[in-house]
Amino acid sequence: MKALTLNLTLCSDSLARNKSAVKQAKYLAIADALRQAIKEGQVTPTEVLPSARKLAQQLSVNRHTIMAALAELVAQGWVEAKERSAYRVVKNLPIQASRQVNKVRQTQQSFDWKFRFKQDLPVTAKVKASQYSYNFSGGQPDIRQFPFLEFKSHFSQVCQRPKIDDLSYGDSRGETELIEEIATYLRRVRSITDKELMICNGSQEALYMISQLLLQPGDKVAVEQLGYPPAWAAFERSGASLIAIKQDDRGLDPEHLAQVFAQGKVKLLYLTPLHQYPTTVSLDITRRMQIYQLAVQYGVAIVEDDYDHEFHYDSQPIAPMASDDPAGLVIYISTFSKLMFGGARIGYVVANDELIEQLAAYKVLMNHKSNVLVQQSVAKWMQQGGFEGHLRRMTRLYQKRRDFMVLLLQDYQSQGLPIHFEIPAGGMAIWLDTGKSVVGLKEKLMSNGVYIQTEVEFNMIKRLPNTEYRFIRLGFAAMNELEVEQGLNIVMKALYGVLSD
Ligand SMILES: Cc1ncc(COP(=O)(O)O)c(C=O)c1O
Repeated sequence: MKALTLNLTLCSDSLARNKSAVKQAKYLAIADALRQAIKEGQVTPTEVLPSARKLAQQLSVNRHTIMAALAELVAQGWVEAKERSAYRVVKNLPIQASRQVNKVRQTQQSFDWKFRFKQDLPVTAKVKASQYSYNFSGGQPDIRQFPFLEFKSHFSQVCQRPKIDDLSYGDSRGETELIEEIATYLRRVRSITDKELMICNGSQEALYMISQLLLQPGDKVAVEQLGYPPAWAAFERSGASLIAIKQDDRGLDPEHLAQVFAQGKVKLLYLTPLHQYPTTVSLDITRRMQIYQLAVQYGVAIVEDDYDHEFHYDSQPIAPMASDDPAGLVIYISTFSKLMFGGARIGYVVANDELIEQLAAYKVLMNHKSNVLVQQSVAKWMQQGGFEGHLRRMTRLYQKRRDFMVLLLQDYQSQGLPIHFEIPAGGMAIWLDTGKSVVGLKEKLMSNGVYIQTEVEFNMIKRLPNTEYRFIRLGFAAMNELEVEQGLNIVMKALYGVLSD
């Protein structure tokens, strides 16, 4: 019983330190300490506990407090009352905490889960941008620029006057005021009308739900050969297979698409028309129309992923395909991940009412609804003009950063490095042809504090042997000029060896 006494002494010390806890639940803390002693094996099953009087003396507490603690342990199934007010530890301890379970834990490796499928955790889910001194991750906004104080005032406002009804379940489509704000914004800035809108937990949730609702094993999904793997993963998870469509410097190749559609079974076409991901090429107007006509002809729905629409610098961005969709086959998805940050998890999907209704029903299965307080705060931020102000500031800043990175790269070109790139009209990254293989470059740079993405991560045909990967995607939005200059220097040194300053 020596160890048991010691444990309870510790407990009485902590009780003495925390006076308010003493008042409130002294007996619970004592019950806790006793339970711990039993779990650790200091008193074993069927062993009799010291008498209530003794325990009360040891802990300098009233005997009634000890009796209340013991009653608590009886109720929880750890001890049982014996004759003449003695208590002993039960023969079979409550299962979760017992030493027997611990013994099982020690001998068994792990439970044999029968997974229906297994999926690797993508690198992006593990990588913390802050681990890297230079983060060239292609779609990363500069989170340091986000107006947290301003946003906090909206959040406080929302918490000060909570809308009790909204804080419960229901409304899986999202908060009405946010839906209205976004719908008005889309009508004004992206010319999208006549469709329904629903808020999602980021556009990834929309992609996943669309896949689950519309695809089945045997279906095909046409995707850009260079593209966005999280979307591919969602499509493949439904049992559909992907078909890579060729692309060039004008975007997706409609001729190749027509051949693929003609072979049948294509259910969806996933496109990033404004700033092709990852190459940043804008799909030209003629091709957009050809692609739309093909989709109508073959009855294929188009998922238009317009993930960074606002960041377009040289002209007004081309209106989305969803803005001119007489056949109603475009499912438009977009996100606040670039306008705010990825962790905000606010995305939305715009489509015809029948599809939105099904998506809303599916979302109930997954998670009921997206976070209400964040939605309401974003709605206030939009209503009061902060959102568009931030957008204007960021567009100017990112344009400057794009121009700066272009200058640096042109400078490297003039030093004779074999790099090639098109100046992107918008987006947050430059797609750079390094003129040499980039296999292994990412890992090398990561150990030097630099995060970049290389072509192999985006290429659908990566399963083909001997493909030559020469491109890297250099995000220019997340870092200031000094950081970009220093980081780029490390990238170029890793690629081409020592450079002249
Ligand atoms: C092509 C593309 N689509 C969508 C997203 C945004 O996804 P989410 O809204 O789930 O954060 C990203 C973000 O990196 C992206 O690059």
